[in-house]
Amino acid sequence: MNRGPVILSWETEMKILAIESSCDETAAAVVEDGRRMLSNVISSQIDIHTLYGGVVPEIASRKHTERINRVADKALSDAGLSLPEVDAVAVTCGPGLVGALLVGVSFAKGLALGAGKPLIGVHHIEGHICANYVASPELEPPFTALVVSGGHTTLARVTDYGEYEILGITRDDAAGEAFDKVARAIGLGYPGGPKIDAVSDQGKDDSIPLPRAKVDGSEYDFSFSGLKSAVLNYLNSEQMAGREIVQADVAASFQRAVVDVLTSHAFAALEKHGEKRLALAGGVASNRHLRAAFEEGCRQRGIELFCPPPILCTDNAVMIGSAAYYEYKKGVRHGMDLNAYPALKLGESV
Ligand code: KG4
Ligand code: ZN
Repeated sequence: MNRGPVILSWETEMKILAIESSCDETAAAVVEDGRRMLSNVISSQIDIHTLYGGVVPEIASRKHTERINRVADKALSDAGLSLPEVDAVAVTCGPGLVGALLVGVSFAKGLALGAGKPLIGVHHIEGHICANYVASPELEPPFTALVVSGGHTTLARVTDYGEYEILGITRDDAAGEAFDKVARAIGLGYPGGPKIDAVSDQGKDDSIPLPRAKVDGSEYDFSFSGLKSAVLNYLNSEQMAGREIVQADVAASFQRAVVDVLTSHAFAALEKHGEKRLALAGGVASNRHLRAAFEEGCRQRGIELFCPPPILCTDNAVMIGSAAYYEYKKGVRHGMDLNAYPALKLGESV
């Protein structure tokens, strides 16, 4: 990473073409000054991966390769721009599937080199948090963020743009991963989160006793694998006893357990730090029950809640364009040696 000149003026209208390909969405967007979405193109591969019950990395990479050019072209044309008119090219460089990331990184490097534009590599989870800057233009650090996605569950204080103090992470499964695994076990298929969200409306959320795990010695860390195992054990014992399994009751009870753990950890952290603002992010933040529980809990505690619309919670490139803007303002520029970093940590420089 090079650090270029720090630009102090906030008056510029900087347009960034952003690319996202870390998992199973091929996405591109143009974002102005980190806050305004000029275009948002997402080509989802869900239909293909559904056939296999989950994301197949090799297929994801191949589909990104096939689609990325058209997706980026459309992002530019939807914004009414051509490549020479954007000021920088941004791309997710980690964490994620290495082959999938490499497609986006290589493509973005080609665009930046060919058009003579600065290149900015972005952390995917930082991107998720920054979706809130687009959805809520008045939001500025400091605040507390809860990122709940398919690969990550992270509770962090955002002390400044791009500056994070990690309070808690998951010790095993991410929240979205647990949704996907439980959905598969009860026959809902992939992707599990939206299906559990929908089917749980017909179920009773207190019908099955499930654990709310605490991690010894760490107040804010999460653990969802025990919850997942408890659901699997329940399904086994019901089957052995010849009793009928009510899919909606399992879905609702599991979802309630996840929501209880996420809300209790987040509110405990907010209280401890005297923080009055909470931003949700990541695919699981589009869950209606989770949003309702946070809305109610925040209202009771006088906490201001920020949450992007569902389309900016799941993977997209708008969030990458927003994060890139703040990185660029700090002087971050990447060279042609930018790589894919599948296990990149939040706040780690590349
Ligand atoms: O943030 P995201 O799109 O990709 C990652 O960075 O992982 O999150 C995807 C995850 C999947 O596990 C998916 O099942 C979950 O988000 N998800 C949901 C909902 N929509 C997506 N989980 C619960 N309820 C939803 N409505
Ligand atoms: Zn994501």
